[in-house]
Amino acid sequence: MATVLALETSCDETAVAVVKNRQVCSSIITSQIPVHQQYGGVVPEVASRQHVEIINQAIAQALEQAQMNWEKIDGIAATCAPGLVGALLVGLTAAKTLAMVHQKPFLGVHHLEGHIYANYLSEPSLEPPFLSLLVSGGHTSLIYVKDCGIYQTLGETRDDAAGEAFDKVARLLHLGYPGGPIIDQLAQAGNPQAFELPEGNISRPGGGYHPYDSSFSGLKTAVLRLVQQLERDTQSLPVKDVAASFQETVARSLTKRAIACALDYGLHTIAVGGGVAANSELRKQLHAAAATQNLRVLFPPMKFCTDNAAMIGCAAADHLKRGHTSPLTLGVQSRLAITEVMQLYQLEGSEV
Ligand code: KG4
Ligand code: ZN
Repeated sequence: MATVLALETSCDETAVAVVKNRQVCSSIITSQIPVHQQYGGVVPEVASRQHVEIINQAIAQALEQAQMNWEKIDGIAATCAPGLVGALLVGLTAAKTLAMVHQKPFLGVHHLEGHIYANYLSEPSLEPPFLSLLVSGGHTSLIYVKDCGIYQTLGETRDDAAGEAFDKVARLLHLGYPGGPIIDQLAQAGNPQAFELPEGNISRPGGGYHPYDSSFSGLKTAVLRLVQQLERDTQSLPVKDVAASFQETVARSLTKRAIACALDYGLHTIAVGGGVAANSELRKQLHAAAATQNLRVLFPPMKFCTDNAAMIGCAAADHLKRGHTSPLTLGVQSRLAITEVMQLYQLEGSEV
């Protein structure tokens, strides 16, 4: 059994949770979205300052909500990579300090491993191997989950991440930030067949297309050209139809690649993670396609799709149970491939 206090400050959510193995005892998520909205996106320095102001209160709230004191905590974890360096530093420094003061093991956690572990929170019986479709503001990857800390990247975007495409398209439709939830909502009343948009296939030198890699920058440019043309030729922009057509194209692209990858690698479960996992059209298309192939699809509950600390605590608890802890000299990294997760840990009793 491992009970972990976890901190997540990699971007614009200040989050703290207490997790007992795969069970959430408390989860505090303070979103900074209203602060960043006026700038149309996350301002890194503002994010760091917000984290500093909120983090202590969030830690106290998480412990209180879980009805825990420090004696019951087996380890203290924080996201250490990838993310905004200044923002990551706030959570990591707080976690290291608490680990020193309360003499507990400390663990740095890879943010994307956290998004994969969000699936265990609602499906505690889930075990590797399975395929993870990670779709967030910064990443779009198909990952073969082999074991705790052991991952193989099978496909990824060659340019923009899926969430980034939602945010950029929302900006050019003058819808504000973050774009995903607004486009998702508007698309409900739009016609997904109104406009044909490019899916973003990656050509292979020998001919054909890469089956798992994707591209979203061409789609974004196509939407830009479409919007420019519609603004020139029509009285009012059919925002709902554009949103629905764009969203349908992204969902189709992701679904096609995830299903092909699962079938090719003989993986029977696709576990989705990251903010775009909240998307209703992706949920619909992936469930429908998986059903025709006898594949199981898992989506975390909505509140654990976007950034949260419960998923970080869940990953940390699994590592801690296996005797993995991080040295207090561990730093933050803006980029770190998920295949490098084990470099964050030393095994019980070993020196780094
Ligand atoms: O995982 P996340 O909270 O942060 C990162 O690690 O990047 O993902 C945030 C991204 C944003 O780009 C946001 O627009 C997108 O997830 N998102 C959505 C939805 N909700 C959030 N995208 C599509 N549909 C949604 N319902
Ligand atoms: Zn994230």
